Amino acid sequence: MRRTIDWDGDSVTIIDQTALPAEYRILRLASVDDLIDAIRRLAVRGAPALGAAGALGVVLAARHGGDVRSAAERVANARPTAVNLSWGVTRALSKLDEGAEAVLAEALSILDEDERLNHKASGHAAEIVLSLTDRRPLRLLSHCNAGHLATVAWGSALGVVWHLHRRGLVDSVLVDETRPLMQGSRLTAWELAQAGVPYRVQPDSAAAAAMARGLVDCVLVGADRIAANGDVANKIGTYGLAIAARHHNVPLVVVAPSSTIDSTLPSGAGIAIEERAPDELRTYGATTITPSDADVFNPAFDVTPADLISAVVTEHGQFHP
Ligand code: MRU
Repeated sequence: MRRTIDWDGDSVTIIDQTALPAEYRILRLASVDDLIDAIRRLAVRGAPALGAAGALGVVLAARHGGDVRSAAERVANARPTAVNLSWGVTRALSKLDEGAEAVLAEALSILDEDERLNHKASGHAAEIVLSLTDRRPLRLLSHCNAGHLATVAWGSALGVVWHLHRRGLVDSVLVDETRPLMQGSRLTAWELAQAGVPYRVQPDSAAAAAMARGLVDCVLVGADRIAANGDVANKIGTYGLAIAARHHNVPLVVVAPSSTIDSTLPSGAGIAIEERAPDELRTYGATTITPSDADVFNPAFDVTPADLISAVVTEHGQFHP
């Protein structure tokens, strides 16, 4: 599969994640404003892919002239929770004094690293999952999308599935649909189908019942920001999964590149949680499904305390807070 996000010599190119699975469409983003719009609409999403987007945003700003640092700040603030976005911006900006070509080279090295580091992190995590579980082949549970599409290539939590599937060690994956934007049923299911991995989509509300019935050997999730104490911000619903997993003695493993660790934050209490537009909940496709003026609570992420997590795994192996 082509990279989720790339540079074509003039513009940023992305696989449009708002169109999948109905349509596989490539978007060209020629300006900082186009990129910010794509980030906000989740046309490009997932913490590691946002790191690449942040760096390429600085490339666009540096090539177009004007106030590069304020444009870079706008990119970094396009979404608040995934630390990778501002990490990518900061890394690319560190080369600004050496000129636009140096900024581009740094951004491209982030893109190259991303696949390598996620491949490595998910390889370490696969071994940890095997050490935490007895049943073979494994029945895994996935939330949101932490696959190829959430990274430049390969994936983090879903990368574990790719490693284990190659070894014949995956029975099937239960895919949380991941309300309200359906990153699970639209994107993760699509990736698993492409890879020939057996899966079933389930409503998020079925996850605890699946664990109670003994249908889940391990829960695999990615991360948007990991505090120094090991608390993890990830897609809304992860915290509930972690509580259910602990209750049913099912391990929950978090997989992320180390760029997702925010060592400036002592705990998850300091993580800014994005609140998304009310209409994401008031509507389903083109249909309004609540009273049209219903008040809405729509946080995009939650924070799972470190003590509910079996292991946080990066390219360096298990992260010990
Ligand atoms: O709102 P999204 O789709 O950007 O949220 C993505 C997630 O929460 C992912 O689980 C996380 O970024 C890890 S992706 C490897």
